[in-house]
Amino acid sequence: MRKKIVAGNWKMNTTVSEAVELAKGLVASLNEVPEDVKLVVAPPFTNLVPVSDVISGTSIALSSQNCADQEKGAYTGEVSAKMVKSVGCSYVILGHSERREYYGETSEKLVKKIKLALGEGLSPIFCIGEKLQERQDNIHFDVIAAQIKEVLFELSAEEMAQVVVAYEPVWAIGTGVTATSEQAQEIHAYVRGILAEKFGELAQEISILYGGSCKPSNAKELFACPDIDGGLIGGAALKASDFIAIAQSY
Ligand code: PGA
Repeated sequence: MRKKIVAGNWKMNTTVSEAVELAKGLVASLNEVPEDVKLVVAPPFTNLVPVSDVISGTSIALSSQNCADQEKGAYTGEVSAKMVKSVGCSYVILGHSERREYYGETSEKLVKKIKLALGEGLSPIFCIGEKLQERQDNIHFDVIAAQIKEVLFELSAEEMAQVVVAYEPVWAIGTGVTATSEQAQEIHAYVRGILAEKFGELAQEISILYGGSCKPSNAKELFACPDIDGGLIGGAALKASDFIAIAQSY
């Protein structure tokens, strides 16, 4: 049985007090979420500790939005996988398209990050997805295959078993345009097929989340697809009632 996961990527939003309020709102409504749906929240680094305090003792899991590609030392401004683990994270989002685009995150760096995260016992939520031009040029399958092979094929089966994959078409992120459930299912099945090339049956156990303008109004249709195991939610994760409504869409 694959884990159903609804993860909220808060991006560079929330002050400490806003983050605490949002987390409290989620805790208050947690009993409305089906028990088999795992909620994960990914506040900015500065808010991991206060949010961890609010969700402690609940089933909500904590994630960071990134970690460094080095273990420790003279890397000003960076936050290591070990540090993230030490404040109570069990997940780390890696390879988000915004990081690939604005911060030069390459597959080579992502291999280092994912290995360090796994070494700390964190579950990476590894993001992949094509840009609009790539879809228009009909090379989206190749782009996605490369993103997977360059990073995830460097892992052992034991390591891969800890990874969650998130398919986030860049053209759907923050744009209000969602992939149709057919488009999303097509890619999710393709991703699982590629994972099966390297990892065989294990591919059936890997949760693959959809991300990109996922909201209460479209989550139900997306989550009904056989290869969609949940969502990575940006904008709609900043409002507790929307995030909970998405989680209830199963
Ligand atoms: P969005 O972002 O839901 O605001 O489109 C999703 C993401 O970037 O993870």
